[in-house]
Amino acid sequence: MSEQQKLVGREVEGMRQKDDFYPTPEYITRALMDRVCFAGTIWECACGDGRMSEVIKQYGHHVVSTDLVDRCYNDGTSGVDFLLENTKMPNIVTNPPFNLAYEFIEQGLRLADRKLALLLPIRYLTGKKRVELYKKYPPRFIVVIPNKVDFVGTGNPVMEFAWFVWDKTENKKETKIIWSEYKS
Ligand SMILES: C[S@@+](CC[C@H](N)C(=O)[O-])C[C@H]1O[C@@H](n2cnc3c(N)ncnc32)[C@H](O)[C@@H]1O
Repeated sequence: MSEQQKLVGREVEGMRQKDDFYPTPEYITRALMDRVCFAGTIWECACGDGRMSEVIKQYGHHVVSTDLVDRCYNDGTSGVDFLLENTKMPNIVTNPPFNLAYEFIEQGLRLADRKLALLLPIRYLTGKKRVELYKKYPPRFIVVIPNKVDFVGTGNPVMEFAWFVWDKTENKKETKIIWSEYKS
């Protein structure tokens, strides 16, 4: 069992969700959209059942939604492996499968012309390979979610998350940390 499986697996008592499907609660998407501006189309490239896409649309954005797996989202296209895509988009926003997080960062940085925002475990700020990547391409914002996130409704979540946001439209190298509201 990988370290990732141990961490997320604990949350569902040893059972991984099939194809890493952990749908994002609405307040998490709002924590990003309320604090970071996006101009142009947003690609939700691992859209699941579309719940993140639907929240983003409420902010007036045109959203393109794709996923590898068909999860019956009428506005989405299934069978699209993000890691094999070559299409560029102004912005990419998603909660990626955590076992492919590094690959999603690399591919997102290749394909997003403006901003890339990925919801990742806060502990992904660390790790030799990841830190080398962050030093080369520093995220512009880290939007911290102050509560542990209960993706699957166990009532006993174990992991903390943050939005890691890269901005290719400006040349700033420093990373700004933004704390979203604590959810009581
Ligand atoms: C953690 S879930 C998040 C779903 C959705 N983004 C949300 O926030 O509710 C990850 C999603 O990534 C999809 N996925 C896994 N590997 C993928 C790949 N290579 N390309 C595109 N989607 C992938 C899974 O099918 C799953 O729906």
